Amino acid sequence: MQNRHLHEENRKSWNTATRAHNSHKKDQAAFLRGGGSTLFPEEKVLLGSIDGSRLVHLQCNAGQDSLSLAALGAEVTGVDISDEAIDFARKLSIGSGIPTDFIRANVYDWFAETERHSFDVVFCSYGALCWLSDLDVWARGVAKVLRLGGRFVCIDFHPFSMVFDEHFEIAYPYFADGRPLTWDDGVGDYVGLAGEALAPSGFVEGETHYNNPHPVHEFQWAVAEVFQSLIDAGMTIEVTREYPYSNGAKLFEDLVEVEGRRFTRPEGKPNLPLMWGVVARKN
Ligand SMILES: C[S@@+](CC[C@H](N)C(=O)[O-])C[C@H]1O[C@@H](n2cnc3c(N)ncnc32)[C@H](O)[C@@H]1O
Repeated sequence: MQNRHLHEENRKSWNTATRAHNSHKKDQAAFLRGGGSTLFPEEKVLLGSIDGSRLVHLQCNAGQDSLSLAALGAEVTGVDISDEAIDFARKLSIGSGIPTDFIRANVYDWFAETERHSFDVVFCSYGALCWLSDLDVWARGVAKVLRLGGRFVCIDFHPFSMVFDEHFEIAYPYFADGRPLTWDDGVGDYVGLAGEALAPSGFVEGETHYNNPHPVHEFQWAVAEVFQSLIDAGMTIEVTREYPYSNGAKLFEDLVEVEGRRFTRPEGKPNLPLMWGVVARKN
């Protein structure tokens, strides 16, 4: 696999970040056991009914959303490259009493090893696409593991929002042509920054001297590049959405929190797409 070394560096950075993120969240097992869900309405609408379906949650991190999906009646498999995330997810599954299968793997290896037509739904969300170093190989992997008629459902932060720095000034290119963007300070403690918005079980102070020694490598994909990779892999795009707010994540310092654990533009600033969603069907 090309770029394996970059994915491995990302794994280390995500291990450090995931520990800090979970340090800010109150008893998550009790929250889920009591019927709590970490899902937002937008992904529930895009997913529709998943009761009884075999669903794989790609890049599931520490499994909170995977368990919330399983609580809706799906038979869920969560896949993530981070050791810390998958260890935590497995414990959370036991603690919450929600059975879910968690696999620690690079998605590219997992696609190669997984049987064709294994799933009804492939799902990924919120900060997933920017870690993929080869969109075409990824889209072919999505199509491979879906059964005929199965659906790919994704909701993610809008790539256009990534051209701004934290003060809303245009600072980065929209088209990156598959080149990695490297950040020496690693994956940030965005849960500490977002507070309650990313901690529905309750926010606690947790890690206060955050430092991530592991650099990360992100890949900025334009919306059309994602669509085209899915189309080229034999999928039909059925639903597309753009949203002028972001769920959970305070993408820039200046965004303001509004109802529903969302962040949106400050007063006086023009609106812009902060998230987008897609549903594509395997033909
Ligand atoms: C922002 S998180 C996604 C969180 C997710 N929406 C959830 O439900 O919590 C991005 C995740 O992608 C994972 N990741 C990054 N590169 C990966 C790869 N090549 N294979 C598998 N997982 C990867 C990271 O370990 C991290 O957990």
